[in-house]
Amino acid sequence: MPLTPDNSKSASPVKIERVVEDLFKVPIQLTRAPNSKILCDAMIQELDQIRTETPNGKPASWACDVYTTISNNCNLHERPAFQELTNFLMEGLKKFGETMAYPLAENNLRITQCWVNIYQHGMSQEIHNHANHIMTGVYYVKAPPNCSNILFHSYQADTMIRPPIERDTPYNNVVASYSPQPGDLVIFDSSLRHSVQVNASEGERISVSFNATM
Ligand SMILES: [Fe+2]
Repeated sequence: MPLTPDNSKSASPVKIERVVEDLFKVPIQLTRAPNSKILCDAMIQELDQIRTETPNGKPASWACDVYTTISNNCNLHERPAFQELTNFLMEGLKKFGETMAYPLAENNLRITQCWVNIYQHGMSQEIHNHANHIMTGVYYVKAPPNCSNILFHSYQADTMIRPPIERDTPYNNVVASYSPQPGDLVIFDSSLRHSVQVNASEGERISVSFNATM
């Protein structure tokens, strides 16, 4: 769509109507389980068991410091104790799929990986995305006050020229921050890059992450 430049501050006597269209929206879906307190308490017990039996599986390519089972125990959604949480994650994925108009009835929507990340004080996670998947999500089991936010990085964040800006607007912002609460479920496109800020709280930040395809 051709856009007409804004000449309202111009000395030109010619009045030109201005049109700005928002293109290419990026959805971040936020939901919370109705029984989030009970569900989180149950998951904390199960995850305590998992971490006693699973050494840190942090890939060698990760520069960050975090406990994760992404490489050595990443089918947590198949554990019996995860059934209620898995059902909730699947409902969230269906909702996100509806937003994207994916033909869910014709496809086999499924979680392909599910693991836990535990951030002690001072831990974080670098910018990354989840290649070869369609949808990615995070369920927050523990998120103490002032613990780290999840950051989402615009697809335009790596443009080679970042001109100076006078103020933040929805058009020049390339990073969005979300402060999680226990019981929150965040789902987004797997290609969207994201990171986790340094956990500034003294408490543990525990999240269950998952990838889905169809
Ligand atoms: Fe991630």
